[in-house]
Amino acid sequence: MQRPIITLLTLGLLLASALAAAAEPIVIKFSHVVAENTPKGQMANRFKDLVAERLGDRATVEVYPNSQLFGDDKVLEAMLLGDVQLAAPALSKFSRYTDVLALYDLPFLFEDLDAVDRFQQSEQGRTMLESMRKRGLLGLGYLHNGLKQLSSSKPLRVPADASGLKFRIMSSEVLEAQFEALDAAPLKKPFSEVFTLLQTKAIDGQENTWSNIYSKKFYEVQPYITESNHGLLDYMVVTSTEFWMDLPDEVRETLAVALEEAIAHGNQVARDKAVEDKERITESGRTQIIALTPDERLQWVETMKPVWQQFEDEIGADLIEAAYAANGSD
Ligand code: SIN
Repeated sequence: MQRPIITLLTLGLLLASALAAAAEPIVIKFSHVVAENTPKGQMANRFKDLVAERLGDRATVEVYPNSQLFGDDKVLEAMLLGDVQLAAPALSKFSRYTDVLALYDLPFLFEDLDAVDRFQQSEQGRTMLESMRKRGLLGLGYLHNGLKQLSSSKPLRVPADASGLKFRIMSSEVLEAQFEALDAAPLKKPFSEVFTLLQTKAIDGQENTWSNIYSKKFYEVQPYITESNHGLLDYMVVTSTEFWMDLPDEVRETLAVALEEAIAHGNQVARDKAVEDKERITESGRTQIIALTPDERLQWVETMKPVWQQFEDEIGADLIEAAYAANGSD
């Protein structure tokens, strides 16, 4: 008569461990490389708060800023291994997984963030979020930072001024070609190393947004910033397809809505910071901001734009045309 007791005990234990497992919160690690006072930092923190508010103990978001957990060179591999669940690398950093996102690196493609919005919300723009699905990665949305400026150890007014200088770039073939078109030397380096590379003069310059130049103090070690607005720094919020599809439906839906709201917040921060951080840098007096004349700007456009043709086959001429057509339809 011992058997039923053992069976009941076993069942009880199994039930208890199943209940304990069910009560475990879903942990979502969100790794990024920028400071908290940036569009991406603010978006990630807002997402964490919204998830806490709406999912309580069912899911919890842990945010790791400033490359604390992974740099962008490692984060996507880590995501596929299940070590991190969310990230938002710059669109320039997906080249190992897809060709089409290189579109966003083409110099002078978008005039402003309104044009970027129009393209990203179009069918073609939204389809690009799915471009890495076969590789196990799913884009959940785009997030803005802003247009890039050129910072340097010497004044850059015309493209010839950049000749022979070393510039740090993100890991993108388009950005490499862009600096080669200037007869400059591009070096692919992680974001976390840029300040030291500039400070020690191992490189002469870099390209980035006002927000990143301010929050990472690049302006303290670069005497000149040319307001070129020559390229875009935008992000894709990305997850592992397996992780996302395995979530209970109602959790996935709540997360998707919270993410949309957090992105809208981050996009507003991006627009505000492009103005405020530029002002802070100007007021610091640590660097000289160079405004280009229309003629000088045209020289940058004419030197950099031929890069488009080099990547036309890889990206697709139709896609480039559609993105460019998003300009000026206000
Ligand atoms: C970022 O904004 O996430 C980093 C951009 C960079 O690597 O320059």
